[in-house]
Amino acid sequence: MANFKRAPLPEVAAWKELKSYFDSEGSKLNMMKMFQDDATRFDKFSQKLPTKDGDFLLDYSKNLVDSKTMDLLFKLAKETKVEEMRAAMFAGEKINFTQDRAELHVALRNRSNTPVMFDGKDVMPDVNGVLKHMWEFTESVQGGTWKGYTGKAITNVVNIGIGGSDLGPLMVTEALKPYRTGPSVHFVSNIDGTHMVETLKTLNPETTLFIIASKSFTTQETITNAEFAKAWLLKAAKEKSAIAKHFVALSTNATKVKEFGIDVKNMFELWDWVGGCFSLWSAIGMSIALYIGMDNFEDLLAGGHFMDNHFVNAPLESNIPVILALIGVWYNNFFEAETQALLPYDQYMHRFAAYFQQGDMESNGKYITRSGQRCAYKTGPIIWGEPGTNGQHAFYQLIHQGTRLIPCDFLMPVKTQNPIQNGLHHEVFDGNRPSNSILFQKLSPFTLGLLIAMYEHKIFVQGIIWDINSFDQLGVQFGKQLAQEIQPELKGKDLVSNHDGSTNGLINFIKANM
Ligand code: F6P
Repeated sequence: MANFKRAPLPEVAAWKELKSYFDSEGSKLNMMKMFQDDATRFDKFSQKLPTKDGDFLLDYSKNLVDSKTMDLLFKLAKETKVEEMRAAMFAGEKINFTQDRAELHVALRNRSNTPVMFDGKDVMPDVNGVLKHMWEFTESVQGGTWKGYTGKAITNVVNIGIGGSDLGPLMVTEALKPYRTGPSVHFVSNIDGTHMVETLKTLNPETTLFIIASKSFTTQETITNAEFAKAWLLKAAKEKSAIAKHFVALSTNATKVKEFGIDVKNMFELWDWVGGCFSLWSAIGMSIALYIGMDNFEDLLAGGHFMDNHFVNAPLESNIPVILALIGVWYNNFFEAETQALLPYDQYMHRFAAYFQQGDMESNGKYITRSGQRCAYKTGPIIWGEPGTNGQHAFYQLIHQGTRLIPCDFLMPVKTQNPIQNGLHHEVFDGNRPSNSILFQKLSPFTLGLLIAMYEHKIFVQGIIWDINSFDQLGVQFGKQLAQEIQPELKGKDLVSNHDGSTNGLINFIKANM
């Protein structure tokens, strides 16, 4: 096990130096002046990566940082053991120590196929086995040889899942619409029946396939919606044998899948070491594969793998996820910025910020350090954003001239998928307002994979610096448990009195008015 021992953040030497530099000069840095004084600022504070889909660029020169700030931030990364933790994650160590789990999403996109060890066993044969199963299934659905209960081919796919089992596939299928080769896909997550009912309105049970995407196969919203879908199918099909033709499961829980009535032949496996926020790379990505085809799905994996290699091999000083993470820490903890905006200039990426709301806030929205103390500093920021240029006509006024500091990431393809007018169309920040510009040629599956992995690693690095366990899900797990306890209490007429006054009052109001 790697040596995770380190000083609490406020006692780390680089942290203290950053604090005193911020107080003396760092907080007064002026971007305009720094550009005037240094003609090489753009070259100094940008990183270019050549990729198979063209050059990828991070320009971080429009930030309130100078060389001294960056040097201290890199020192902070070293002193907080970012390199050691990174090595431990890729080596399959149980870095999610509170849940005794490894976090090996990088194995899911390991296109070089080198062994990835977990508990003394190479996981790659299992990973490749599931990919093969996904290939066979995708080809049969896309090729029309997979038939519904009346012998018709599948035209519509409904993914039923929530959180990571919904947000990732939804975001990616929207982002990669121009690469569509398969059936239409729909996503149902909300337990409010409206979501399901509105989705089913236009669908025909004979040609609809349901994907029940749930790592645990016990999540209340997902199982409730899946039962509803099963009843909807059986109402039309009458015969239980129709379930095998219209339901597949993506899960770790074969027992529950069987209990639900899905043939385990139609179950696509994932493993405990796939975190909920990282599962789109696993079988949870099935709706992506059905929509854009396995070639494109594997290209998405290849983009993620490309970023993994960069993250592992590049020195901290030129490491894109590390740089993004450190700049984020500088604003979060020294300038006390409360939020971070993700602003993609590509309409197809309209769910990108929503996706990373989970990725970032579920990972780093924590106040207990790895050694069990309460953090004496701020951890994960509030993530938000909308696609440009719509955002410009809604909230950019506040970003430009409001009283808050809002660090922004602009994500911009050089070429749009659907040109109406030539050239980049984005607002230039003219005040002392910080932003990263992330430019790529065109939003391809590969580039999207690279972008997702870039932010995943950024979040991971920030979690290490803040000394929290980004991967543990105990908080949300507790929420799920509470919801399960309250559900039976909503039935019957008896008044509930075992919660706090407000919760009792709310439950009893609902019961009285049902
Ligand atoms: O929101 C909490 C969470 O555990 C996420 O990590 C996960 O993506 C989601 O619930 C759904 O869980 P499952 O895939 O087990 O249904």
